[in-house]
Amino acid sequence: MLEKLKQIEKEALASLQAVGDQESLQQWKVKYLGRSSPLMKTFDALKELSKEERPVIGKYANQIKQALESTYEGISDRLRQSDLATTLQAEGLDVTLQGRPAPRGRLHPTTLTLREIYRAFAEMGFQVYRSREVETDEYNFELLNMPTHHPARDMWDTFHTTTPGVLLRTHTSPGQIHVMRQYCPEPIRVILPGMCYRYEQVSARKETQFNQVEGLAVGQDITMGDLKGTLTDFARRMFGPEVRTRFRASHFPFTEPSAEMDVECFICGGIGCAVCAGSGWLEILGCGMVHPVVLRNGGYDPHKYMGYAFGLGPERITMLRHHIQDIRYFWTNDMRFLEQF
Ligand code: PHE
Repeated sequence: MLEKLKQIEKEALASLQAVGDQESLQQWKVKYLGRSSPLMKTFDALKELSKEERPVIGKYANQIKQALESTYEGISDRLRQSDLATTLQAEGLDVTLQGRPAPRGRLHPTTLTLREIYRAFAEMGFQVYRSREVETDEYNFELLNMPTHHPARDMWDTFHTTTPGVLLRTHTSPGQIHVMRQYCPEPIRVILPGMCYRYEQVSARKETQFNQVEGLAVGQDITMGDLKGTLTDFARRMFGPEVRTRFRASHFPFTEPSAEMDVECFICGGIGCAVCAGSGWLEILGCGMVHPVVLRNGGYDPHKYMGYAFGLGPERITMLRHHIQDIRYFWTNDMRFLEQF
């Protein structure tokens, strides 16, 4: 019996040394340490041995088992190491290489400008009010003091839907009526941002869709002085504390008096350049005191209430700031343009 065990050990160790890969190692394990291996069978056969033989053979068989197992572990380890080395070599994995960059989105330049505008007005106590992009003729024109056939409608080329009287708003001003009707007779101080649409021949200066930010303040003692002060302060918050502003008389059917505000050209500092067409000034918004007819249409008694309104174009401001020559860039989704912001 002892002889037989010695034989088993010798054979097992010899063939273990010859093993060269994981697969033959597993086969070796089954053959020499598996349930039906000669060594394991010896354990089964122990009970047939005499009382004297049993502990001797048993102890010896155990020693062999431990020896085989530890040699097996050693070889298994060595194989794993060399396998790893081979794959590393073959696949040329360089763990110091940078990972693939996950593409990160970014905010659209208009959104960035819009957020600055919101912040500037929020600091002055204006709340953001959202209103619809699909409007009725009544809200877009009629209630803003532009009856059908009013020549002022020519300033706004309009997209009409197939439903008569329903159109895409050409400006954010119809929002004035919505806020007034919702909050009357409360005082109001809001800005109304959003998309507007005009039926335009698309060019470097004109697009069929663009944003506007409308502003509206209504109360019992609101004057043109408040309008000028607020908008001048806005310009300083937006373009820097030193920036100069000027108001020029203008005309809108829904404000009286009406004005346009220019800021000193922040490209050339007022000397005159290509961006300001040599004038030293950039026009950034239209404004005025809310027309009594519009106040009444909003539910306010024009004898008791007054208000001012303004409308500005975030794309235009973005273009002026970043020297963008063509408004079409805002909608062409060209990554070379968008990635610059
Ligand atoms: N709605 C005007 C436009 O689109 C701008 C404006 C708004 C002017 C409010 C005065 C008051 O040109």
